[in-house]
Amino acid sequence: MKLICANFKMNLLKKDINLYLKKINNNLNNKKVIFFPSNIYIKDFHDKNYLVGAQDISFQEFGACTGDTSILQLKELGITYTLIGHSERRQFFNDDLYISKKIALAAKHKIKIILCIGESIEEFKDNKTLEILKKEIDLALKNNLKYLTTSNIIIAYEPIWAIGTNKIPTNLCIQETISLIKKYIFTTYNLKVKVLYGGSVNENNILELEKIKNIDGYLIGSSSLNPDNFLTLINKIN
Ligand code: PGA
Repeated sequence: MKLICANFKMNLLKKDINLYLKKINNNLNNKKVIFFPSNIYIKDFHDKNYLVGAQDISFQEFGACTGDTSILQLKELGITYTLIGHSERRQFFNDDLYISKKIALAAKHKIKIILCIGESIEEFKDNKTLEILKKEIDLALKNNLKYLTTSNIIIAYEPIWAIGTNKIPTNLCIQETISLIKKYIFTTYNLKVKVLYGGSVNENNILELEKIKNIDGYLIGSSSLNPDNFLTLINKIN
């Protein structure tokens, strides 16, 4: 079954969350959906028995990290997954420095990792996609092999230029890139990983994306914010 991740980013207020929960009403049509709301709303989803994840974790367990949230605190709220290395974290919070430590911490505390990787538009145009993806994969995996298994790490391939832009690579391009990611991680690290696609997935393009054979799921941002649209979208996913 495909894995569907709803990344709310820094959106929605408490009243919107209440309405959202009311609308979806535990009616996800047997789809495997993980919600990634802001940390303060994780418990609301967990209390209603949804799978929940954190959009990020601190690189430290506890201590002098003002503004950060510990993985142990997030676990208390009910997370079983966390995103790591989302391009917005890499861009605004210098996340590349902390990704390896975050991966180790998540694995140590038995939280499943969704590692986000993706190239910029310049890198895409310069045919550097694979080089960039390999670099991001190595940075995350190289020092953490002893902690990682096929079941605790998933890759989300999100071309930066496709996030929130309504631009999307061709099916052929996505399929080839996913295949190269799987092959690289298997040959280099002996791990068989699942790969999700993310970036401007919506209810209009999902049927086209569903034709791609090697996609294991989706990471959905803006199209997950409206519960009606989101339900329409996930009902089109096999
Ligand atoms: P988008 O975001 O669906 O709004 O493009 C995806 C993401 O950043 O995870």
